[in-house]
Amino acid sequence: MNTIQIEALVKQMTRLEKIGQMTQITTSFFNVDGAKATGTASRMKDVEQHKWIVGSVLGKLDAASMLRIQRDYLQHNRLGIPLLFMTDVVHGYKTIFPVPLALSCSWNPEVLRRTARVSALEAAAAGFQVTFSPMVDLVRDPRWGRVMESFGEDRLLLGQFGAAMVEGYQTDDLQQPDTLAACVKHFAGYGAAEGGKDYNTVDLSPLSLYNDYLPAYHAALQAGARLMMAAFNTLNGVPATANTWLLQDILRKQWGFDGTVISDWGAVKELIPHGVAAGSEDAARLSLQAGIEIEMMTTAYIEALPELCEQHPELEQKLDEAVTHILQLKQELGLFDDPYRGVSEAREQEMLLHPSHRQAAREAAVQSMVLLKNQNVLPLNPDHKLALIGPFADNQHILGPWSVDGDPNHTVTVLEGLNQQGVHVQSLSTDDTRIDEDALHQAIELIRQSDIVVLALGEREEWSGEAGSRASIGLPPDQLKLLRIAAAAGKPVIVVMFAGRPIELAEVAHHADAILMAWFPGTEGGHAIADILTGRSNPSGRLTMSFPYHSGQIPVHYNHLNTGRPAHLLTQEKRYKTQYLDVPNESLYPFGYGLGYSEFVYGDIDADTGELSIDRPLQVSIPITNNGDYTGCETVQVYIHDRVAEIARPVRELIAYRQIELKPGETARVEYTISAEMLGYYHTDLQYRADPGEFELIIGPDSHRGASVMIRIV
Ligand code: GLC
Repeated sequence: MNTIQIEALVKQMTRLEKIGQMTQITTSFFNVDGAKATGTASRMKDVEQHKWIVGSVLGKLDAASMLRIQRDYLQHNRLGIPLLFMTDVVHGYKTIFPVPLALSCSWNPEVLRRTARVSALEAAAAGFQVTFSPMVDLVRDPRWGRVMESFGEDRLLLGQFGAAMVEGYQTDDLQQPDTLAACVKHFAGYGAAEGGKDYNTVDLSPLSLYNDYLPAYHAALQAGARLMMAAFNTLNGVPATANTWLLQDILRKQWGFDGTVISDWGAVKELIPHGVAAGSEDAARLSLQAGIEIEMMTTAYIEALPELCEQHPELEQKLDEAVTHILQLKQELGLFDDPYRGVSEAREQEMLLHPSHRQAAREAAVQSMVLLKNQNVLPLNPDHKLALIGPFADNQHILGPWSVDGDPNHTVTVLEGLNQQGVHVQSLSTDDTRIDEDALHQAIELIRQSDIVVLALGEREEWSGEAGSRASIGLPPDQLKLLRIAAAAGKPVIVVMFAGRPIELAEVAHHADAILMAWFPGTEGGHAIADILTGRSNPSGRLTMSFPYHSGQIPVHYNHLNTGRPAHLLTQEKRYKTQYLDVPNESLYPFGYGLGYSEFVYGDIDADTGELSIDRPLQVSIPITNNGDYTGCETVQVYIHDRVAEIARPVRELIAYRQIELKPGETARVEYTISAEMLGYYHTDLQYRADPGEFELIIGPDSHRGASVMIRIV
């Protein structure tokens, strides 16, 4: 079906049919087993009579139910417009990969692309055509539960990894039945919710939006994403769902987005508690005028738009624009040619948990984990007897939030992973919050019989994810008690940490000899952890979100401004500078940080003339040597500090990185092309450009260390 045919189809549609296309309900209304009509769904009146004209559904599905629903729907839909099936495939569908914050620590766009590709193969086989992913909300507050869905605190990585996932989901041909249309979210600034409380108020200056928060959404759209989801939060007083500046001025006019805009769940009617809509009619009008084209899981459009369009005929054009985008999306997905998109139970069976998908998840998990500390206790000595203790010792609930159709029963636990690699291990599983005296005595006895201790600690899955905000991001007291007892027993202690966010680790760092941040590592988590602990894999993950010493430091992020009294410069001044009296100023573990089993030595930077211009980039390079005994992968990071600019600029900002693998004793020269474009920023006139002048260029292993040279734009 081409554009002309779509225009003709829109002309045939009644107003209610158009509004139906703009309404999304859950699969529960089509009696999908296990799909529950929760929350707003159960309160959606008179949907029953409209379900044959709604344009899309979301939620639980499988191949058989998709085929049944689509067949029934097409029998009832007057114009034979196929139904669209959407869901939240965020880090895998049935084969679950590490949570996105973990995946981002691979610093490897190919890992993100492959995760998305495998996700699409499985979810498309189960009947879906759209995923509400990638989430590219920039995050600086680990109290917010949804940091697990993000790619961290840096706009360059957020944009690159979001774009990579779009490419993995969509490939270059959405007509292929094993693709998913990507929906970027949550537009915009959702990660800056006040106090880290979900759905909370967001206030961001235009410069912060343009320089930090907006670039990643734009990068994901430039990769071809076909949908954008508006965020729940207000942005500078106006809810994103009704924010014409966001959805029209930025998205449509400045960025030229020609895809479909969808609300978040129930967000249209949430304009009423936000206090900008008196009732459903206001909510529908404001959302439609701002540019919401699909209303997710409320029926303000169905209830109010028929009458509103009678009173305001100019709104009819907004309906036609919205419906045209929705029908174009269905056409791009090939649904008018084949509403079933080749779905079959046989193909579903073949795709889900395919061995190659599990292998991809295992490799992604290995590259996502970050070794934060290692005082010569890892890799494990194969002759050592190991005591594995804690709430995650043999726990299959390590998939993390948004695991769609993932089944914990398919998950490899730490104990299983270690056993399968022949490690001599005795384990004791404990509760995650109540570890009583009896359990502690058992732990002490197990440690007495062992050479080395692995404590599998962390936060419960449900303490992370949507509405998983925590005021304090520490470990439960009983887990810390177990740690102290293990440390006092005089055997080396390794902590494997499970969480969807940076955790307060100062006390853990004090007691443990090694710390491996495993995040929520997914279906193959136990294998990946065993691969790293045994040395079968050399850990290469690098943090993409800072770990604070203390929750009270939040927000703490690497690319902060200097201030007029920078503590790291005023070393002689004891009091009157930007600092806390009671905790260190910097993060415990900084952005970009991570250890491995190799020892990488950085040489001197070669910056050629040190000069570049708008049309002549500068070549820089640095020799890196692996002085260790293990072949390893190093992420060589390039930062700049713009010392004098029109606005205060970050003390460091990532502009490039390169991953190299070096054998023991091998040296390689890592090269970068630095363009003026990479040194630019949005000025107070909100125009992006680079200024002539000096920049400090730093190349190092993380955002705190590295060699530096001065370069100049002439
Ligand atoms: C949720 C989330 C959003 C998700 C949507 C559909 O509330 O905010 O990220 O895609 O609803 O599940």
